[in-house]
Amino acid sequence: MTGARLLGSGSALPERVLTNADLAAQIDTSDEWIVERTGIRQRHIAGEGETTSTLAIAAARAAIADAGVEASSIDLIILATATPDNTFPATATKVQHALGCNGCVAFDVAAVCSGFLYALATADSLLKTGMGTRALVIGAETFSRILDWEDRTTCVLFGDGAGAIVLEASGEAGDDASTAPGILTSRLHADGAQHDLLYVDGGPSTTQTVGHLRMKGREVFRHAVVNLASVLNEVIEDAGISAEDIDWVVPHQANARILDATARKLGIPSEKVIVTVDQHANTSAASVPLAFDTARRDGRIKAGDLVVFEAMGGGFTWGASLMRV
Ligand code: UT7
Repeated sequence: MTGARLLGSGSALPERVLTNADLAAQIDTSDEWIVERTGIRQRHIAGEGETTSTLAIAAARAAIADAGVEASSIDLIILATATPDNTFPATATKVQHALGCNGCVAFDVAAVCSGFLYALATADSLLKTGMGTRALVIGAETFSRILDWEDRTTCVLFGDGAGAIVLEASGEAGDDASTAPGILTSRLHADGAQHDLLYVDGGPSTTQTVGHLRMKGREVFRHAVVNLASVLNEVIEDAGISAEDIDWVVPHQANARILDATARKLGIPSEKVIVTVDQHANTSAASVPLAFDTARRDGRIKAGDLVVFEAMGGGFTWGASLMRV
């Protein structure tokens, strides 16, 4: 059986935009430093009443409308987030209730910036086992709520948002995976030894507080380029394709320099890399589906295109998926 195929996508952003100039008025930084080191020009920040679930619900509704299906036909909701509305229950259950598909499977996945890749591979696997026919896969975050706004080395890098896709179990044994729409392959990894390079210094079981994001940026950067190039090579090899066959790379949007360095390592031209980090900054688990939806809606990514998703984040966790749209 071939992998689940895409029915639709959607995304949502908070109304408020925070520019680099706005940040430079608050802390010791500059538009020039942020643009040169990261490519980020602005980010969206959740306002009062906006939470991870409200963004996720808006993105999910847009994806369901794009798919042209009824919310009641969703069998499985997997939401990737590191900034849930509550410690429990899963934010996915709030989305489920708002969509009115109570009764279906709904849970969160915590793999930070790679969360969407983990959620996508999990949904694909569950659909293949017959757990359901349609899945809603969401990446949604409000990282602005776990940032130390006095730490210039991290607070300039992140933003809030959500992206979602609807998948349907598809394909019969014998379908030609090289032309049939659907997920061709996914690879996931984690390395808990790197915990201290990117983590949140709080949590229910340790400090009983939410905590703040802490990152050794330079070291994370180094690992990101190596791990991403490696997992991209794995999915390319696994699918029996070559890098030239890929129409679009939809990467986790952490830093424009990481996107460039990774594409260069694989020999993929930068025109094939979807870049939204300038507009959204790093939205963690939301960044890949947000970038994907942006590029589908502006007409770049079309039906039949071969797309590779990739991400790396806290844990470390990292992964990649190849999908024929
Ligand atoms: O999503 C999860 C994955 N996360 C990532 O992939 C992030 C990976 N890392 C990065 O993107 C980059 O390492 C950063 C953008 C975080 C930092 O860029 P860098 O080129 O590695 O800079 P650096 O950390 O080596 O800092 C260079 C200088 C330092 O000053 P000194 O020590 O050389 O005097 C920093 O204090 O830049 C200074 N600096 C800043 N200056 C102005 C750090 N942050 C700022 C700032 N504004 N916001």
